[in-house]
Amino acid sequence: MGMYPSFSQVSIFSCPHRSIQLMRTKITAAITAIGAYVPEDRLTNADLEKMVDTNDEWIRSRTGVSERRILREPGKATSDLVVPAVQRLLEKRGIGPDDIDCLIVATVTPDMFFPSTANLACAKLGIRNAWSFDILAACSGFLYALTTGAALVESGRYRRVVVVGADKMSSIVDYSDRTTCILFGDGAGAVLLEPNIEGYGVLDSILKSDGSGAKHLHMKAGGSLRPPSIETVTNKEHYIYQEGQAVFKFAVTGMADVAYELMQRNGLEAEDIAWLVPHQANKRIIDATANRMGLSHDKVMLNIEHYGNTTAATIPLCLWDYRKQLNKGDNIVLAAFGGGFTWGATWVKWEY
Ligand code: UT7
Repeated sequence: MGMYPSFSQVSIFSCPHRSIQLMRTKITAAITAIGAYVPEDRLTNADLEKMVDTNDEWIRSRTGVSERRILREPGKATSDLVVPAVQRLLEKRGIGPDDIDCLIVATVTPDMFFPSTANLACAKLGIRNAWSFDILAACSGFLYALTTGAALVESGRYRRVVVVGADKMSSIVDYSDRTTCILFGDGAGAVLLEPNIEGYGVLDSILKSDGSGAKHLHMKAGGSLRPPSIETVTNKEHYIYQEGQAVFKFAVTGMADVAYELMQRNGLEAEDIAWLVPHQANKRIIDATANRMGLSHDKVMLNIEHYGNTTAATIPLCLWDYRKQLNKGDNIVLAAFGGGFTWGATWVKWEY
């Protein structure tokens, strides 16, 4: 663990009185590298047409998805998505596993209940000098983890924090349920946070949750409320349960409102924002958010067509796909809505 002062301290000796003043500059957490990984195997709309009563036109017009990536290899889990994403990030930054102080994984599909997927991924990555833990906030998981990781860096106690969003959604999707199986895919994305004193990085977040929304989107069994049993398996209670229309209604206003609130709170106008990086659940929800923010659609990162909804991974996967179009100083707004309900928006000033 690296110690780092939370403020850069500059001593000024003012001559006549020889008094000492302390100028303090706030430390922010800058994103200094990205990594991502999606499995090779594709599940296309044409494939799904053979599995359930659906069609390509319906899926594309209602959701924007054409194909998703699926981790099919037996014995592979969410940590196996995390590992290549983080390896790529380390390589990009030119650092090794022992340089990491903390690793946080946002996921709803952990390898197992415990230990955490972050613990398991660190062991596979050879990260030995860090502490690690998971965060569960469904589709908003990456924003929750990013805000947590940023606070650790801002505190001055940690220099290099890796924040990962990763989900093997195929492990909890019922491929006989046409209302959910068309939506989700597998993937992982990771960012590295490091201290910055020039005002780059994570500048503000508004995060919200409302557990009364659970009834519309949840997994019925497997937890302490309904431990696994023959009955829960027979009743298919270990899969995603979603009331699509109800979730849509909350998501479309929730994500747009919180992104707008973030702009208002920070005096950001549409022309100040280079990119909106929205959670990729439904193209129609994304369009509504961009409209509320007054953003033209060429400022919206979009990759739902190729990966579907990868839950905690959508936002870092977008950053990875658009990395060559990001410029130092760009104001970007990340926004998400998901199970819980959880939702939020984060303002990042791009550092490289
Ligand atoms: O990321 C986590 C948060 N989740 C979300 O943000 C998801 C929010 N919800 C949604 O994105 C949308 O509600 C869905 C994409 C899930 C569904 O779209 P929708 O426009 O809300 O469709 P719907 O559920 O109202 O269904 C419309 C019709 C129904 O038929 P009837 O009752 O009108 O005859 C469905 O049975 O479409 C039917 N349908 C399908 N048809 C073909 C439902 N699924 C399919 C399908 N293929 N896969």
